[in-house]
Amino acid sequence: MPVQHFITVAETPVDTLMRIFDVAYELRAEREAGKRNAPMLAGKTLAMIFEKPSLRTNVSFQQAMIELGGHSIVMVSEQVGLGKRESPADVAQVLSGMVHGIMARVFEHQKLVDLAAVSTIPVINALSDFSHPCQALADAMAMMDEFGRDLKGRTLAYVGDGNNVAHSLAVMCGRLGMNFILASPPGYEITQEVTDTIMSYCPDLNMQVMSDPMDAVRYADAIYADTWVSMGQETEAAIRKAAFESFQINDKLVAAAPKHCIVLHCLPAYRNIEITDSVIDGPRSRVFPQAHNRLHAQKGLLAVLMGGA
Ligand code: CP
Repeated sequence: MPVQHFITVAETPVDTLMRIFDVAYELRAEREAGKRNAPMLAGKTLAMIFEKPSLRTNVSFQQAMIELGGHSIVMVSEQVGLGKRESPADVAQVLSGMVHGIMARVFEHQKLVDLAAVSTIPVINALSDFSHPCQALADAMAMMDEFGRDLKGRTLAYVGDGNNVAHSLAVMCGRLGMNFILASPPGYEITQEVTDTIMSYCPDLNMQVMSDPMDAVRYADAIYADTWVSMGQETEAAIRKAAFESFQINDKLVAAAPKHCIVLHCLPAYRNIEITDSVIDGPRSRVFPQAHNRLHAQKGLLAVLMGGA
């Protein structure tokens, strides 16, 4: 059987996605009951490569490995030199004979594709310029926590940049039968090429692109925010902040949404830039439970990919 990677939501079979959620919820229920999870990753090691900073992804993967009885090795980009000191293919071949899984956070998505092409152990995308599928798992769980496991017909309004997080969320919405609305300033929408790719994987996805955030949230069950300036875009910060000024998630925008609508943010948040303190700390916010779900989602993912769950 070919090794199962987790590079994008789109390339992950639906039954694998559903299994990840099932296992994540089982493991979370055990943890919340004060029980230890079975050591299903005992004797297994995850190599973690970071080309960019991380809090949630780093800690959640390490903690997930600990709670499932395994180990992790964390390496920053200078140590590995992925694509500089050594090709991704060579790195994958070396690690395939030493550890049991590779998790990588990279600038260029292609590096993940190159790792996965030759790796005989699972490769996990911990964020690339194209997608952030691990984040989308936790985001889906945050919505399931609120609305139940069946999210069919629910609407996610993503207000902000049509970036890697938006790509993964759009496909996740398609996989879960949700509607996906993107509200972005002109020029910052998901590109036509990526939209075509998303629709090729999710032909039934109801995806709408709007330029007015108020219109976008009117029927939303969840509003989603992300930074306007992602890692690597720092030189564009002033231009981006000006372009996104009217896309802030604030009390006025949240008041335009239905009363049951929740607010999500993948974090880190630039408070009072893309989201106000009053919203992120307010009653509609599920931002911190969403972040905590990174741990549970990672456990489900690792258990399925590396533990045979
Ligand atoms: N949301 C997210 O991926 O957080 P980190 O960058 O801290 O891992």
